[in-house]
Amino acid sequence: MMGLFWKALDLAALATEHAQFKDWWWKVQIGKCYYRLGLYREAEKQFKSALKQQDMVDTILYLAKVYLRLDQPVTALNLFKQGLDRFPGEVTLICGIARIYEEMNNISTAAEYYKDVLKQDNTHVEAIACIGSNHFYSDQPEIALRFYRRLLQMGVHNCQLFNNLGLCCFYAQQYDMTLSSFERALFLAENEEETADVWYNLGHVAVGIGDLNLAYQCFKLTLINNNNYAEAYNNLAVLEMRKGHIEQARAFLQTASSLAPHMYEPHFNFAILSEKVGDLQRSYAAAKKSEEAFPGHVDTQQLIKELKQHFAVL
Ligand SMILES: *[C@@H]1O[C@H](CO)[C@@H](O)[C@H](O)[C@H]1NC(C)=O
Repeated sequence: MMGLFWKALDLAALATEHAQFKDWWWKVQIGKCYYRLGLYREAEKQFKSALKQQDMVDTILYLAKVYLRLDQPVTALNLFKQGLDRFPGEVTLICGIARIYEEMNNISTAAEYYKDVLKQDNTHVEAIACIGSNHFYSDQPEIALRFYRRLLQMGVHNCQLFNNLGLCCFYAQQYDMTLSSFERALFLAENEEETADVWYNLGHVAVGIGDLNLAYQCFKLTLINNNNYAEAYNNLAVLEMRKGHIEQARAFLQTASSLAPHMYEPHFNFAILSEKVGDLQRSYAAAKKSEEAFPGHVDTQQLIKELKQHFAVL
């Protein structure tokens, strides 16, 4: 593979020479070769030079890809926004902006841009799915359901869609469709990771209906399919805590936080668990980690406050 790109590069370099470095199209081709070779700074130069000669949406998209590779999402964002001034309403540019916001975990802003995408193209799958999940996480499962149904009508049939649909149906209290959606999702799963995602959501449904034994089985099945599923370890720990199995809960939480140190839940649960058994030092250390991962978490702050009061009395 590598050799091939080098060849393409040589060829394109020759052609540019022939065009006396004036041909923007070849510059884009050379830029693409550099990009594939991982020479992002070189690629950037070529795309910028090409854009100066000929303003093209495609070239903007390539240049943005370079910035994303260089871990400069804000530069890519500005590039897209400036591009939109010159190509108003261009779906690929709006979508590029939305994706970056989504990547930055700024889902509400991402959803605003995806809404603009839908104004131009009301069959845009990615936009519909994002807006759907945004509604879901804003506690509006009925509206999310509408978006997912629209994807179904458009002929999108994959595990992810049915898995989201199942959870939406459950929270929108459309129980008849909940289980059949998850069944379809399991049937359509293309790998163990996808299967694990379905069992994980089923675990949530089991918790929701108060069947904690079923929930336990679902989270176990999640781990059988994907042994690195930090959220499943965390939830199993919570179930073990309810049964009073402290050691087991502690082990699950330690696994969860080592798999996903950025998640606040395992730290928070560990803090709660340690406080319950009177280990206030460990509880405080874990609560501080939870606070670091999620500074605005009210329960963590409450716990830290309580622990500080305990220490003051001692
Ligand atoms: C999302 O992005 C918008 C626009 O840049 C900004 O105003 C807002 O504060 C961001 N929200 C979050 C939660 O980061």
